[in-house]
Amino acid sequence: MTLASVFPHPIIQGPTAGGFNTPAQVAAVSNAGALGSLACSLLSPELIRAQTAQIRAFTDRPFCLNFFVQQTPNPSIDAVEQAKQWLKPVWSSLGWTELPTPAKWCEDFAAQFEALIALRPAVASFTFGILDAEQVRRLHEAGIFVIGTITHVDEALAWERCGADAVIASGLESGGHRGTFIGAQEDAILGTFELLPLVVAAVRIPVISAGGIMHGADIRRALDGGAQAVQMGTAFLVSDESAIGPAYKQRLLTAGEHPTRLTRTFSGRYARGLENHFMRMMADQESVLPPYPIQNALTSPIRAEAGKRGETELMSLWCGTGVARARPMPAAKLVETLLAEIGKK
Ligand SMILES: Cc1cc2nc3c(=O)[nH]c(=O)nc-3n(C[C@H](O)[C@H](O)[C@H](O)COP(=O)(O)O)c2cc1C
Repeated sequence: MTLASVFPHPIIQGPTAGGFNTPAQVAAVSNAGALGSLACSLLSPELIRAQTAQIRAFTDRPFCLNFFVQQTPNPSIDAVEQAKQWLKPVWSSLGWTELPTPAKWCEDFAAQFEALIALRPAVASFTFGILDAEQVRRLHEAGIFVIGTITHVDEALAWERCGADAVIASGLESGGHRGTFIGAQEDAILGTFELLPLVVAAVRIPVISAGGIMHGADIRRALDGGAQAVQMGTAFLVSDESAIGPAYKQRLLTAGEHPTRLTRTFSGRYARGLENHFMRMMADQESVLPPYPIQNALTSPIRAEAGKRGETELMSLWCGTGVARARPMPAAKLVETLLAEIGKK
């Protein structure tokens, strides 16, 4: 099946976890003929159902629900206490006397998966891991088009083998978390336009290119390189309907040549964002911090408090290397602008 038979225009608004994708944003993109995505990884099944209902109130076009394929961890008390101590310079700088232990480390993926099957969106995409063939079969039975996120060729072949309909080839430029699930995250180093031809040559299913794609010329280059569509995260993060706070948005829109860095200090998994004081404070412990989602859950109250205070030096300022070329406007207008730039409208 081609992507064009699922949604007309070759643009996917990247899912952006953290509450940034509003149902209004997802619907605006889908109504414009591209594919809107809702990041569901941090949402309970109840919230996924509620937000999907809101999307459906705004659009009857196809949209995508996106998930992290993950297992709930069970860290030792000692490991958690050690991780809290490593974070002490950060939480004491907020005036706190202790860091709370989260009530849960992450949402239950099995429960999210059952909610997904029942909701039957046109498309579901996955990152951080891979499904098994039986899970893909159940999604297909529910009429859902299945997309896996990959950062190198072996991962693309693995998704193709388990029956996925397409893969997102995410290059090193990408904003937010790296999706690597085979081998070390540090070893998945190919840039978007190095990765794309290798994946296109390796698999028969459609390839979607992601990472640093900001303008029509980037989309054209990806399509000419064999991609059937692109996924754009940072570009839509600054759209009017996105729920990022004003301080974060301001940092993105004034990023200029401020460097983005890959860091695991916020979440325990490598992710790209604007370099800030938090990353520098935690740099010495970066290699020993607990893995995702433990570190992510521990830093969650810190990031939430920093967000409330507009303290961008302690927030995760996720974005891709193309951030300086981000253009704030309504999401539908961005789709329209991009289509005009690639000569499609
Ligand atoms: C703030 C932020 C959050 C993200 N959250 C998710 C997510 O929940 N699931 C996912 O598959 N990708 C996620 N991504 C990746 C994007 O969907 C997209 O693939 C990536 O941003 C592409 O690179 P670009 O930012 O250079 O456009 C996130 C990216 C950002 C910037």
